[in-house]
Amino acid sequence: GLPERVTIWEVGARDGLQNESATVPLEVKLEFLDRLAGAGLRVVEATSFVHPRWVPQLADADELLARLTPREGVRYPVLVPNQRGLDRALAAGVRHIAIFASATETFALRNLNRSLDEQFAMFEPVVARARAEGMAVRGYVSMCFGDPWEGEVAVDQVVSVGRRLLDMGCDQLSLGDTIGVGTPGHVRALLGAFTASGVDVSALAVHFHDTYGQALANTLAALESGVSTVDSSAGGLGGCPYARSATGNLATEDLVWMLDGLGIEHGVDLEALVATSLWMAERLGRPSPSRVVRALASA
Ligand code: HMG
Ligand code: MG
Repeated sequence: GLPERVTIWEVGARDGLQNESATVPLEVKLEFLDRLAGAGLRVVEATSFVHPRWVPQLADADELLARLTPREGVRYPVLVPNQRGLDRALAAGVRHIAIFASATETFALRNLNRSLDEQFAMFEPVVARARAEGMAVRGYVSMCFGDPWEGEVAVDQVVSVGRRLLDMGCDQLSLGDTIGVGTPGHVRALLGAFTASGVDVSALAVHFHDTYGQALANTLAALESGVSTVDSSAGGLGGCPYARSATGNLATEDLVWMLDGLGIEHGVDLEALVATSLWMAERLGRPSPSRVVRALASA
């Protein structure tokens, strides 16, 4: 059956802005984060402590965290790939990190400059140290459905990568369809393979990109499989600079509209969120790709 309540993991400020060609000023990022939290989102991914040359859009991560005024009850996780990133996150007072692994060899190389096996050696000390510091640690797995260079990705390969991250000490996995090629049957098969391997569905989150228009259908399939944490980005911002043809994430507004229709609690004020996405679209100089944002803006 469907969950009664869904935790929306908002990734617009990270997955969204990392892919914008325009540099978004720090002030705008801070206001964006605050408006997202103000709209009722309780998990607002803030930025990434990655190499500034790899993702120049998020090169201001240290200053962003220093100037962020956290709202009561809101978590602001950040992406951390390695020990250097964790040093920076600790210095910034971060309490919740996410490491990000690849399910494929090619994307591990392109996104992390590591082989599939080498990525685990990079993450292991990060997760151990973060846990010892009492941090929560999410583990993203990218390219869980298809990879632009390798084609369709085998379910068993994804389960094997995901289980290694859980064994390392990650408390949650986010299964990413980085390029948006997945469809609901594939989602059911992947989630079924995880639970068959002994992973509790409560440790799984889903992360869909809407490249082929399947993100919402895939989300419904995941909810029906028992998943209750869903990643999305306000206004459908997003993509990945190191994955060819990846477009925006599932739009948070589209997700909220569906959850409302299903009577599933989420805590988000849709009107405030749409206003935030319209405001952000103006800052970026192009309209939001979210269908719900467009429909409500012209209603
Ligand atoms: P590397 O070049 O192999 O790094 O990059 P290195 O370990 O060899 O270090 C080289 C230099 O970089 C050193 O400096 C380090 O200190 C420095 P030097 O000694 O030469 O002066 N350095 C750093 N500086 C600041 N912060 C750091 C850091 N690390 C090293 N954290 C690395 C390896 C992982 C750093 C690089 O590949 C990288 O930053 N990659 C990030 C790519 C990225 O952010 N991609 C987007 C996020 S993933 C995504 O979007 C998918 C997701 O949404 C899920 C989905 O959709 O499926 C999550
Ligand atoms: Mg993503």
